[in-house]
Amino acid sequence: MNRNILLFGATGNTGVEICKELNTLNIQHSAFVRKGSESKVNTNLTEIISGDVLQKKDVENGILTHDFTDIIIALGSRDLKGGNIRSLGTKNIVDTLKSNSLKCKIHIISAHGIGNSWNNLKWYEKLISKLFIGKTMKDHELQELTIKQNLSSFHIIRPVALKNGEATEKIYSCSKGSLPNGSIIRADVAKFLVKSMIEDTSGISSICNS
Ligand SMILES: NC(=O)c1ccc[n+]([C@@H]2O[C@H](COP(=O)([O-])OP(=O)(O)OC[C@H]3O[C@@H](n4cnc5c(N)ncnc54)[C@H](OP(=O)(O)O)[C@@H]3O)[C@@H](O)[C@H]2O)c1
Repeated sequence: MNRNILLFGATGNTGVEICKELNTLNIQHSAFVRKGSESKVNTNLTEIISGDVLQKKDVENGILTHDFTDIIIALGSRDLKGGNIRSLGTKNIVDTLKSNSLKCKIHIISAHGIGNSWNNLKWYEKLISKLFIGKTMKDHELQELTIKQNLSSFHIIRPVALKNGEATEKIYSCSKGSLPNGSIIRADVAKFLVKSMIEDTSGISSICNS
């Protein structure tokens, strides 16, 4: 299948790794990028589409530029308070797909601990999540709900704590149950996401390094 992908959050720490992986595998893709962030995209194949994901018109214009087969959402916020960029951005993307009857498959980077995976966190992970990243978790909860309630074809990827570094390609994934490790390298998240996309994996995957 010939893929053409639109990536939201392409200039983020995980997004740049996803772009690199798509570039390495020669998969056609475009990055939806805010004005001023273009220089963070540094792969040859990536076409830049300008826009702000909070502006519905920008999102619609971006999605309608090509016949995209897949949309990757790696949106986030460097503000520790979390904000609502993930849920609002995802809502604009999903609304655009629905109002234009588009069938692109969505792949999102959420977080381990969201939805039913909350029960698989250890007591101290629950405490840390509540104390420090409660708003981010809430934003991911709303983001996942928007996807689950409105789309039939999606892959939600829930990584544990993200770290920078070289890919290890030692990745453990499961759709339910606890994880053997509390962190994963962002480059491994990118490899897992792109491989799952090629294999047409759907549903929910929690992931960590093994
Ligand atoms: N940190 C962890 O340990 C951890 C663990 C599990 C899951 N996660 C989740 O993983 C995801 C990715 O994390 P990350 O660290 O790679 O994120 P990040 O580096 O903060 O990247 C966020 C991306 O979102 C983009 N963005 C923000 N506001 C935007 C807007 N209005 N319009 C268009 N783009 C916008 C940013 O663009 P700019 O470059 O223009 O700012 C950037 O590309 C996040 O959702 C995070 O919650 C994180």
